[in-house]
Amino acid sequence: MQPFLFVTDLDHTLVGDDAALAVLNQQLSQHREAYGTKIVYATGRSRQLYHELATEKNLLEPDILVLSVGTEIYHQGQPDPAPQWVEQLSHQWNREQIVATTAHYADLIPQPESEQQPFKVSFYLSEEASQEVLPRLESQLKQKQLNIRLIYSSGQDLDIIPGVASKGAAVTFLQQQLGIEPDRTVVCGDSGNDIALFEAGKDKGIIVGNAQSELVQWHNTNPNPNRYFAQSSCAGGILEGLKHFGFLEP
Ligand code: GLC
Ligand code: MG
Repeated sequence: MQPFLFVTDLDHTLVGDDAALAVLNQQLSQHREAYGTKIVYATGRSRQLYHELATEKNLLEPDILVLSVGTEIYHQGQPDPAPQWVEQLSHQWNREQIVATTAHYADLIPQPESEQQPFKVSFYLSEEASQEVLPRLESQLKQKQLNIRLIYSSGQDLDIIPGVASKGAAVTFLQQQLGIEPDRTVVCGDSGNDIALFEAGKDKGIIVGNAQSELVQWHNTNPNPNRYFAQSSCAGGILEGLKHFGFLEP
């Protein structure tokens, strides 16, 4: 057995089935102990909402936390986000202009203050309105030469982040920093903001059985043998996938 880079989304991916989570936690912490496997949580949550979840659920202490949809990277024991990543995201990012433009859209309901971050502007947007709003907003922002990425998840959440950021881009940054190859990396997710984790296509990917339709649709139109669509939900699906790829013993 060799170490690997384990990257997982939290809500409805790692978290959602407490019994399966306990089994997975035990196997992962043993693997980390014995082989130096790295555990990374990649979530849309801010630091505040991450800590709320960590007090409610039995989560292993991660080696690295990727927060706010890939826009913040925290290494364990460091109080501030990785400065090189902050540097990379700062170019061509103009938060004020994004906020000013989005203010004209009645369908965009701002998310709570805790979820508004230096490199993330977030709204609630209904699925119905999203069909018309997303293309219009994207072209309007791009006309202003703003290099942004719009991420719509779970039929309700819209995140606007720098074009160079995403959960997937953060993982690529970490692979380079840690010197870990894509075939020793496994990424797990359930919704729209996880598509970027699977996009590079070389990492091993696990889609949990309870995935949202936007991710399932994307998976079906972009098939890849490095990606496994589990039958089980949440942590049960992750366990299934880790065994499928041979990261854990069957
Ligand atoms: C989390 C975040 C929220 C974001 C969503 C989708 O729920 O708290 O701000 O919109 O993930 O990325
Ligand atoms: Mg999720």
